[in-house]
Amino acid sequence: MNITKANSLKGEITVPGDKSISHRGVMFGAISEGITELTGFLNGADCRSTIGCFRALGIDIEQSNDKVIIHGKGLHGLSAPNTMLDVGNSGTTTRLISGILAGQSFKSKLNGDESIQKRPMGRIITPLTSMGAHITSIKNNGCAPLEIGGTALHSIHYDSPVASAQVKSCILLAGLYASGITSVTEPVLSRNHTELMLSGFGADIKTDGLTASIVGNPKLTGQKISVPSDISSAAYFIAAGLICENADLLIKNVNTNPTRAGIIKVAQAMGGNIELLNERTVSGEPVADIHVSTSQLKGCEISGEIIPALIDELPIIAVMAAVATGTTVIKDAAELKVKESDRIATVTENLKAMGCDITPTDDGMIIEGGKLHGAHIKTYKDHRIAMSFAIAGLVADGNTTFDDEKCCVVSYPNFFETIGSIVNR
Ligand code: S3P
Repeated sequence: MNITKANSLKGEITVPGDKSISHRGVMFGAISEGITELTGFLNGADCRSTIGCFRALGIDIEQSNDKVIIHGKGLHGLSAPNTMLDVGNSGTTTRLISGILAGQSFKSKLNGDESIQKRPMGRIITPLTSMGAHITSIKNNGCAPLEIGGTALHSIHYDSPVASAQVKSCILLAGLYASGITSVTEPVLSRNHTELMLSGFGADIKTDGLTASIVGNPKLTGQKISVPSDISSAAYFIAAGLICENADLLIKNVNTNPTRAGIIKVAQAMGGNIELLNERTVSGEPVADIHVSTSQLKGCEISGEIIPALIDELPIIAVMAAVATGTTVIKDAAELKVKESDRIATVTENLKAMGCDITPTDDGMIIEGGKLHGAHIKTYKDHRIAMSFAIAGLVADGNTTFDDEKCCVVSYPNFFETIGSIVNR
C-alpha cells in the first residue's frame, strides 16, 4: 500500500459496526434464551473470533456479513469445548469470555496470537480467583494461554485498580453465575456497553457513579439489536476530515455514547469544525451523524477522566496533534502500553519517522505540531497503528508505505476502500 497526499476529501460514508457492541451481542445472545438477531454486526477478525469461540461452546450461530443470528441456550446451556478456544488478536474476547467460562461446571482452555500472549491477564485472574474461580495462566506468566472453569462462584465487591471495561465486564459476567450481588468500582468510568446491553437482555444490573452491580442467576432473553457504527473506526475519518485540505465529510450513524466519545471533545478543544447531526437513540445507545471539515487544529492537553473515553483513539489523535499548531500533551494513558502493541512506543517510532518532534513519557506523549513527510510505517500488526498512519499519509509530503497493513481486518476490513471512495488526488 502506498498513500500519498490528498488534494481533497469529500463524501458521505458509513463505517463498520461497533466492535465492543458486536462482541457483546454474540456473547450475551449465547447465554440468553431464544434468538438474538444482530444487524450492523462488525464482520472483522476480532468479532469472528468471538463467534468461533461460542460455536466451539456448542452455540449455533448463523452469520452472513453484518447479520448474525444466535440461537441462545440460556445461562447454563454452554457445553465443554473439545478444542482450545481461539481468541485470535482480541483482548475483548479473551477477558469477557473468561468471566463467562469461570462460571461453567466444565474446564476450558483459550489462547490467541503472539500479541494476545503478551497482554496482561493478571487483571482478570485476581478478581475471578477471589470469586472462587479456577483460572490459571498455563505458562505461569500472567498471560494467555489460560485454563478456566470447573468451580462454583460467589459474589464479591471489587475495587478495580484500572479503568477497564474489559475487566469490569469480565467480573459482571462472572457475577451472572454467582449467588448474591457482584459489584465493581473503577477509578474512572470506562465504556458502559455491558451495563446497557445486559440490562436489555433482562439482567438486574445497576450503576451508581463509578460502581456497577449485578444480581446473580437472572433469566436472560434474546434480543434484536441494531449495532451502530463504531466511533473508534469513525475516528480515522473525523481526523482526516479535519486535517486534510478541502475536506468535507459526513460520517453516518455513529455511536456517540459519552463513555466512548472523547474524540469529539478533543476535536472541539483543538478548534476543529465538527458537528453532530440527527442525534437519536438506537438499541439503547446514542447515535448521530458526524460532519467534519478542514480546520486549523491547535494543540491541547488530554488527561484525566476523558482518557478511557478515547483510549483507542489516541494513536489517531497523536496524528492530529502532529499537524496542529503548538504542543499537545497526552497524560494518564499508561494503558496504551498494553494494547495490541505498546502504542506509546509504536506511535512515537512512526511519527518520528515522519519527521514529528515527539517525546514519549511513562503515561503518554508530548507532541510538537508541524509538517509530516512520508515514511515506511512499522505497524507491529496493530490495526489502529496501520489506520492512523494511513491517515497521516494523506497529509504528508511524499509516499507513506507499510510493512503490513492487512491487520486492519481486525476492526475495519475495507478501510482502504473507504479511503479510496472519498479521496481526490
Ligand atoms: C474494550 C475496552 C477497551 C478497549 C478495547 C475494547 C471493550 O479495553 O481498548 O478496544 O470492548 O470492552 P480496556 O477495557 O482494556 O481498556
